[in-house]
Amino acid sequence: MTQVKQINWKTLVNWIDEKKSITILDIRPQNERDEWYIPESQYHNAYEKLKTGDFDALNDFEFDQRTPIITICAKGRLSLFAAEILANKGAEVYSLEGGMNAWNSAYDTQEIDFDHCKIIQVRRIAKGCLSYVIGSGTEALVVDSSLDPLIYKEIADKENWTIKFVTDTHIHADYVSRTLELTNETSAKHFFHSNAKVSYPFTAIHENEIIKLGNVNIRVLFTPGHTFESTSYIIDDKAILTGDTLFIDGVGRPDLKAENDQVFLKSKLLYESLQKIMKLEGEILVMPAHTSKPIFIGEAFINEKLEHLKEKIPSLKLEESAFIETLISKLPQTPPNYLTIAEINKTGNYEGYSLTELEAGANRCGVS
Ligand SMILES: [Fe+2]
Repeated sequence: MTQVKQINWKTLVNWIDEKKSITILDIRPQNERDEWYIPESQYHNAYEKLKTGDFDALNDFEFDQRTPIITICAKGRLSLFAAEILANKGAEVYSLEGGMNAWNSAYDTQEIDFDHCKIIQVRRIAKGCLSYVIGSGTEALVVDSSLDPLIYKEIADKENWTIKFVTDTHIHADYVSRTLELTNETSAKHFFHSNAKVSYPFTAIHENEIIKLGNVNIRVLFTPGHTFESTSYIIDDKAILTGDTLFIDGVGRPDLKAENDQVFLKSKLLYESLQKIMKLEGEILVMPAHTSKPIFIGEAFINEKLEHLKEKIPSLKLEESAFIETLISKLPQTPPNYLTIAEINKTGNYEGYSLTELEAGANRCGVS
């Protein structure tokens, strides 16, 4: 048996970022590919044959001998077999260790400098989850942590910031928040909207409260709808972190964690919250908690001026009743495991769960 070489997701992120010439070969079943994928990858439908141990499974896959191939499956096992077949054909081939489950942790960063602060966007590439490290002077605020707390600490250290505050824009249902863990590993103050029904202690914040961070003011804008505690943060009147209330290609969805009779109420609240956001200056940069598409490594900071979104997103132009009706009629499927994840996020304790299994799959927090 040919010894198959493996690489981890960090190496793959670097290779893509460096624009190294590679072929990423996805060999999962079609339905898994449809669910989520690495944008730079190619798909080859050979899963059934590979599963039976058929060494001819990749006979119709054409490749260039000079370009390294990285094989990818869900957990990094069948991709070893695919890599072995291609290695036998003379390819330079690597299997992605841990497969798409491991890719779930892959991230990159982009930043925007303002006069008195810097905002670093930390992007979980596969899921499109966006968290933010906002720094001013020597202090930082971390919003919507979804990755290992060490990553945020390293980002802050590099900038000579001390993490003073941490928060979540809302109780997430599509990934396990790492904010509580980050609080416990730093001396940061953990704030949350007073409506947040969580079992751990936090500092309650309220509408229009001003949080002083270094040389900037951060204003709390209560924007319920997606959830009852959803909150947006206005950073020095330059940017607004909108959580899952407003995205750059759509609006939040009101039904996650909601009983049917709450969907109407939440849709109404969402409409009112969006109206509040739309009253802000058109120049303000909207920075959401998600994208609906996988992120291309190295792509620009994901944000958009509010005035552009008013033009771009049709539902923002609707009257209340039409907005609610349209929203309810377009609700997509709920994310896998969302109830379990939301329950975990209410306690902050994920002991006994595998995060990669729980969080696998694309994000579905928005409605375009
Ligand atoms: Fe959400």
